[in-house]
Amino acid sequence: MSELVDTLWLDEETNEVKYIDQTKLPNELLIKSTINLDDMFTAIAKLEVRGAPAIGVFAALSMYVLGVRIDGATLGDYVKEYIRCSNHLESARPTAVNLSWALNEMIKELDRFTMHRFQCSYDSKSLFDIILDDTLRGNLAYVLKTKALHIWENDIQVCKTIGENGIQFIHEGDGILTHCNAGRLATVRYGTATAPIYLAHENGMQFKVFCDETRPLLQGARLTAYELMESGIDTTLQCDNMVASLMASGQINEVFVGCDRVAANGDVANKIGTNGLAIIAKHYNVPVYICAPTSSIDMSIPSGKDIVIEQRNASEVTKMWYNNEMSHEKVKVYNPAFDVTSHELISAIITEKGVITGDYAKELEKIM
Ligand code: MRU
Repeated sequence: MSELVDTLWLDEETNEVKYIDQTKLPNELLIKSTINLDDMFTAIAKLEVRGAPAIGVFAALSMYVLGVRIDGATLGDYVKEYIRCSNHLESARPTAVNLSWALNEMIKELDRFTMHRFQCSYDSKSLFDIILDDTLRGNLAYVLKTKALHIWENDIQVCKTIGENGIQFIHEGDGILTHCNAGRLATVRYGTATAPIYLAHENGMQFKVFCDETRPLLQGARLTAYELMESGIDTTLQCDNMVASLMASGQINEVFVGCDRVAANGDVANKIGTNGLAIIAKHYNVPVYICAPTSSIDMSIPSGKDIVIEQRNASEVTKMWYNNEMSHEKVKVYNPAFDVTSHELISAIITEKGVITGDYAKELEKIM
């Protein structure tokens, strides 16, 4: 794999979150820094940082960076502000569960610390009396930094393991189709759907990857094709509506995609178009593999019907990539960012804890 920088990281000298602004790719590799809640919210909402695992890790690092800058006389003030920031970040995007998962992990860590240190939990009244002195600030910073860095490092390890678990499905000479970007840019380093691909490439296997352009925000064209090309992988780009033609031509042996949330029955929310892709794949007898860290599995959601799907701005469809409006200025636009693929269309879910197939409800229950 080429030596691209990580997608995001903590600058430990300045206590800033650094990240690649993905809206500028593939034309410019712009690294941005942030210490500010509004900028962090915007980075997630505008997809400067995107991809389910990446927004989770970004949120965790952000909560540390915000935490060291919170003012307040008491621990109660601190906790109130911390939770306000966390709730605000959580509202930036609704579908990828990794965002709320990572924010919850950070809050649980804060809670564990206050319980251990003061024998009270963060929602306890007695918190309001504890003075926030320099020692306490230092302790809080230490605890939150350790947790945030753990989430960051864990993402790298988890993706590596997804690669190791998924490589068995790639064979010499295969054509692999992917949709959106579940690549290194959607995580800290290896990607989920691309992790088996990068590993197979490192092992010297020959294969071709076909990237869906991924309307309307072109994550496949702008990001996946970019990172695969930079890594020297044989890459072809096609528009989303060319998938059936491509599969009919016999060039695709398997589909690898990522996901934003897996429900308890194995239904999966992923980038809009994944469901159609899976339906076509079923017709052509092409297996569909979902690559998912267990942080994307949401056992509190019984089925895909219950997953909240983000609706985005009409201009992404009518204007964003064109010099002029590309449609009637008053036309109504349907622009969901994700769709749900039924578990019946999925050949396996590849996680860091193993490959799940068959009775998804039972198997998910076991690994979670
Ligand atoms: O809207 P995006 O670009 O954040 O959507 C990303 C996807 O749908 C990815 O496939 C998913 O988050 C998995 S990333 C490993």
